[in-house]
Amino acid sequence: MNTHWKSIAVRAAAVVASGLLVAGAALPASAVKPDGLRADAPKDLKIGAAVWGAKELVGYDPKSPTEFQRVLASEYSSLTPENDMKWDSIHPAPGVYNFSGGDLVVSFAKANHQVVRGHTLLWHSQNPQWVTDASKTWTCTEARLVLKDHIDTVVGHYKGQIQQWDVANEIFQDTWDQGGVRLRTDKNPFLKACSQDPVALIGDAFRWAHAADPGAVLFLNDYNVEGINAKTNAYYALAKELLADGVPLQGFGLQAHLSLAYGFDDSLQANMQRFADLGLEISLTEVDVRVPLGEDGEPSQQQVAEQADRYQRLLGACLAVEQCQSFTIWGVDDSRSWVPDVFAGEGYALPMTGDFARKPAYQVMRQLLHDATPGNSPRVAPGQRKAK
Ligand code: G3I
Repeated sequence: MNTHWKSIAVRAAAVVASGLLVAGAALPASAVKPDGLRADAPKDLKIGAAVWGAKELVGYDPKSPTEFQRVLASEYSSLTPENDMKWDSIHPAPGVYNFSGGDLVVSFAKANHQVVRGHTLLWHSQNPQWVTDASKTWTCTEARLVLKDHIDTVVGHYKGQIQQWDVANEIFQDTWDQGGVRLRTDKNPFLKACSQDPVALIGDAFRWAHAADPGAVLFLNDYNVEGINAKTNAYYALAKELLADGVPLQGFGLQAHLSLAYGFDDSLQANMQRFADLGLEISLTEVDVRVPLGEDGEPSQQQVAEQADRYQRLLGACLAVEQCQSFTIWGVDDSRSWVPDVFAGEGYALPMTGDFARKPAYQVMRQLLHDATPGNSPRVAPGQRKAK
């Protein structure tokens, strides 16, 4: 084994132990009062939002929050750092860990009685330059050592503070990618180094994460896995294989980045249910519904209604599957959405506008949550509510 990687692991441990890391500022313990989606949700369903940049949480004071902080605290019971726990943020150089952004999200969540979804430990994207460069010559043994050190350190740092971890993110290609649906052994640097047996590496990533925090629920997570299709069939087979092998896989995450340019797959609920029937928790992890906009940059009234309908169907499917207990929207408002940066001419993807005006999408979800919540009991699935 290359001694370089051994020394990385040792140095990383030393950096953590020496307290050289930038920690998020401590936050006051009192909380903003729950309201809206969070207040209306059944007790067994977390309603989450992704936090695009943790720097917006710096200086948080529950007595005088910014409008963004107030909405984030009051409307949601789960937070996902949209970028701050990814490799390039949290592990920017060999042996150097930067927990500042992740710590801010965790502290804010703690102050507001929210849970946190950790995102993500094994992914082909947003890896730092040093991983991209070094991985070109990695043996599988070296790649395993680097990944294990990362998982031990990051999951260990947040032990007891993360409800769900996206352990493996987007590890399958799509049907339209070269080679079709198969594990990303060309783009993911770790799977590439271990392309002889990528499933063994994936299984070990879950084992390492479980050892570092036995209380966190460990997820596979991906996009285009809403319906029953070739990609979800591949995930289904992988999940069965991992479970049969005793791997602590505990959840399946459906990102649900939808677009009005495409239809809605009605097999969503059946798909969620088949993974739930394997014994897995189900989460909708990155929900948004982007809209192709006109020249004026505005959606039509029909698009606004269609968007609301998509959100309603997504949330309705989650409410109808008992094991779906976490529904996260990929951002709070349209000024904090990744969509316009990536899809030219599309936007309006979130349930709130940039000035936090609640859209019909927000209103239908709130109504759905309200209808599913008789008092303090677990949810009543849509269509099953007894007449008073
Ligand atoms: O941190 C740098 C900053 O230093 C620099 O000044 C700035 C200039 O553009 O870029 C900053 O990095 C950006 C990063 O977000 C943090 O803001 C990247 O350019 C930008 O590409 C990155 O985009 C994120 C994207 O993942 C990266 O792949 C999006 O915000 C985030 O919403 C998106 O999230 C992914 C999920 O993790 C996985 N599923 C798909 C989803 C959407 O792509």
